[in-house]
Amino acid sequence: MSSRPAILLISADGALADALGEAMRGDADFALLHHAGGLEASLAASTLARAAVVAVEVDAARRDHLFALQSLMMQCVGQPVVVLVEACSDAVQRWFFQIGVRDLLRKPVAGADVLGACRRLLAGALDPPSDYAEVTSFIPAAGGVGNTTLAIEAAMQILGARPNANSVALVDLDLHSDACADFLDLEPRLDFTEIGENGERLDQQLLEAMTTRHASGLALVAAPSVAGQLRELQSAAILRLLDVVAGHFQNVVIDMPRMWHPWTDGILIGSDRTFIVTDMTVPGLRFARRIADQVNARLGLKTSARVIVNRYERRFLGAGLRRGDVASALDGIFAGEIANNYQLVREAIDQGVPLGTVKPGNNISTGMKRILFECAQDERRAS
Ligand SMILES: Nc1ncnc2c1ncn2[C@@H]1O[C@H](COP(=O)(O)OP(=O)(O)OP(=O)(O)O)[C@@H](O)[C@H]1O
Ligand SMILES: [Mg+2]
Repeated sequence: MSSRPAILLISADGALADALGEAMRGDADFALLHHAGGLEASLAASTLARAAVVAVEVDAARRDHLFALQSLMMQCVGQPVVVLVEACSDAVQRWFFQIGVRDLLRKPVAGADVLGACRRLLAGALDPPSDYAEVTSFIPAAGGVGNTTLAIEAAMQILGARPNANSVALVDLDLHSDACADFLDLEPRLDFTEIGENGERLDQQLLEAMTTRHASGLALVAAPSVAGQLRELQSAAILRLLDVVAGHFQNVVIDMPRMWHPWTDGILIGSDRTFIVTDMTVPGLRFARRIADQVNARLGLKTSARVIVNRYERRFLGAGLRRGDVASALDGIFAGEIANNYQLVREAIDQGVPLGTVKPGNNISTGMKRILFECAQDERRAS
């Protein structure tokens, strides 16, 4: 009998089972168990007991499915559950997370995506519990490259994988704009005067009062900007802020400013991973390469800073850049690309909502999910 951890697929969709089987072909890490009767057919406790992770197809319009899912959730002890659903309302989606579902994939879904979600959950479930957050920083290589957009999207993706009240904080350290708060239509509540010049008055309670909650559960830590005023803060205050935030939340995503401040190095050294965001232009790639090379050589980062190329165009126009050019310009430090989708980003900003609310499963969210997943895999391999 195989001693590999098993993915249990509960679905009457034979084609999906075949696709997952195909994606897992030759996979030495996992075995597949398929409960072909789907959620409506009773599942032997012994089958469930053999599963390390469960992927279950749910028809959100069927009450019997929702009841069956709820009872399945009560039987799952320590096995993370991924729901595969064709369509569902926001209310049902929230309910899934409330009953403990860890991830949700929209059908039609590729076998590789189901495998990826299971792999990610298992990796998370096996991670030793830590009371200090995983910190991910985003730095722009130039102005307007999409740093804020991608930091917010990354925070949303991490939140989607582990939804709970203290799961993810988005910290806006680009102090000269209110972009994070504006994009999410939230009020920034962080008050640097109140926390003290060196952040000495900041504790968990004060942080909670200065945190704004988004409907998704994301916590925003951002200060209102003052027009025309450059804010230069003591490094101690910023580093203390990060320390308290990281002690309170499981994941922290930081929108860093383009200008280097005296505290920038300290934040990057305290980060588990750093992404440099750039666009698909020759100078953009050059700037990003230079920043990455310099921080990697100068600061002993936990993991090397890597570059995300935003507004990536697959079809190259005229004498524009090809993918090969991007890959060779960023050889060894290329984290991945994010599609150009102006209409989607525009709509999300105008409505003050995350990209996934405008269009679930859109190409920017999918790209960010892939980048985060591949980075986590690389980090595990390296550790
Ligand atoms: N993947 C994308 N596709 C299309 N447009 C995008 C994409 N990402 C960002 N944008 C657009 O680019 C503009 C700048 O985005 P954003 O504010 O996130 O960049 P930034 O690097 O944080 O800018 P700033 O220098 O002002 O802080 C926005 O108008 C946004 O709509
Ligand atoms: Mg910005």
